[in-house]
Amino acid sequence: MDNYHNNLPQMPEDRDRRVLELYEQVLEIEQRLIPTGLHVFGRASNERECADLLRMVASFDRPEAHARALPTLIAEGLGLDSNLIQQAGVLSEESTRTRERVDGMTREAIMRFLNGDAEQAAKWLETAACVPREEARAVFRLLENIVNQLRVNREMDGLMRALRGEYIQPGPGADIVQNPNILPTGRNTHAVNPYSVPSDLAFARAERMVEMLLARHLAEHGRYPNAMALVLWGLDNIKTQGEGVAQALWLLGVRPVRDALNRVTDVAPIPLAELRRPRIDVVMTVSGIFRDLFGATMGLLDKAVRCVAQLEEPPELNYVRHNISQQMKADASSFDDAALRVFSNASGNYGTNVNFMILDSQWEQDDTLADLFVTRKCFAYGRDAQGRALEGREARGAMNRALAKVEATYQNIDSFEIGITDVDHYFEYLGGVSKAVEKQAQSRPAIYLSDALSRELKVRSLEETVRLETRAKTLNPKWYEGMLKHGFRGVAEIESHITNTFGWSATTGAVDDWIYTEVAETFVLDDEMLSRLRDLNPHSARTLVGRLLEAQGRGFWAAENEVLQRLREILAGLEDQLEGIA
Ligand code: BEZ
Ligand code: MG
Repeated sequence: MDNYHNNLPQMPEDRDRRVLELYEQVLEIEQRLIPTGLHVFGRASNERECADLLRMVASFDRPEAHARALPTLIAEGLGLDSNLIQQAGVLSEESTRTRERVDGMTREAIMRFLNGDAEQAAKWLETAACVPREEARAVFRLLENIVNQLRVNREMDGLMRALRGEYIQPGPGADIVQNPNILPTGRNTHAVNPYSVPSDLAFARAERMVEMLLARHLAEHGRYPNAMALVLWGLDNIKTQGEGVAQALWLLGVRPVRDALNRVTDVAPIPLAELRRPRIDVVMTVSGIFRDLFGATMGLLDKAVRCVAQLEEPPELNYVRHNISQQMKADASSFDDAALRVFSNASGNYGTNVNFMILDSQWEQDDTLADLFVTRKCFAYGRDAQGRALEGREARGAMNRALAKVEATYQNIDSFEIGITDVDHYFEYLGGVSKAVEKQAQSRPAIYLSDALSRELKVRSLEETVRLETRAKTLNPKWYEGMLKHGFRGVAEIESHITNTFGWSATTGAVDDWIYTEVAETFVLDDEMLSRLRDLNPHSARTLVGRLLEAQGRGFWAAENEVLQRLREILAGLEDQLEGIA
């Protein structure tokens, strides 16, 4: 796989380390929550489908339910170091073995709970792992509640009530693992109060994530990034109560300040002596949904940048101030212009259109994608020195100048179910902004992502994330067979994953050759699979094969000649079939 082919290890210690790294990667794929099909509106999940979900729910402390994380309870009961199970990336045989053992017992306990009942599972945990019965009961009470609510599904009832214009009960909007109170589904989802963002928990988690992010950049590039571009989405910040917002604040080195009504309306700088690193400049590219939901928060972010820029601090410890004053000297920009950092669409507009241009194969030069992103997103929000709101003033030059300073781009992924190849929005945003930086800074930024929701905080490069998603989903029989059960729509989902992977090639070049090669082998060159796809959905099958050929044509994939030849024949066959010739 990727790194492993190239350099064959020389020394035995080297070899052992590589085997361990490889094993860690396999474990990471195995332990990931993999959706095994689409949600069917109105249909309740069966208990087998619940097992993975319950395991994820049980792997977090739930103070509100007086339940502690099951893996921690098991590790403690067995006398193992429970820190080892939280620190993914700490590479040692001991930590790997501990995590694997605890994970195995967590799975077993959940199966015993689902096949029997809470009491049986708690008893087993007491015997097998010395987990106190009361502690286990608290966890299973929570899981029991979830299973019962998953069994009743009021979605169809809710829809009928909506169509009749009747009242629908409200419920919070979140990821089920983050907040099990979203159950039962079929209610009227409500969002958050923007003045509550970021929550204390989100701010605490963001501190650790930002530390990891900066440590990784430092290790890989020998210094902190001068500036970072962050993608902020509305729904993510609802689900995480503002983790993305909190990350921006931490990079700048400020903390949120609440007013007498407990609303976050101001920021206060964290002293450099406490921060113990430079303040990083941050360019925020904000979705239209975020803009609509979090107007007050956009104001807060703008305030944070302006506040940091005015601190009398040495340039090597305050990149924000340094970049802004450099810009003012370079082209006589005003402070107001040089300090613009919060960008979104023009009022009433949404999205970057970079995805549509790629899906429709309508671009020739990389610059076209970079410019399109900026054209859509160059509307500035915040206030000027007189306190007047900008409300989406066009600021193309200011955005380009801010992007020119960026050395790393980043997005926090908020969901277990929707990853970077499930939808076209991740590549349109994170890929789009990375392409815009590449043009303006004349150098490709480092691109990072993190899981906002996993128990272990982990920062990954885009390349690593694409590999993980490909192994966990696109090329994983558990995932694609789950999709194929949905027939026509399932084939469309498979094709869409491959097209979204192609979107990452187009915007960032972060897709390895082996990914396209294995996609071709799995879905097209395997006669039996090809005929299944063709029978279920010849349109998507044709798009899929066409996309592989386009990947090769655009230089994203160095395919073998025989493979190309075969793909061309298959494409011709599919076209004939669709045109009714074959
Ligand atoms: C958002 O939540 O802001 C968002 C959701 C989907 C696509 C783009 C943005
Ligand atoms: Mg959409």
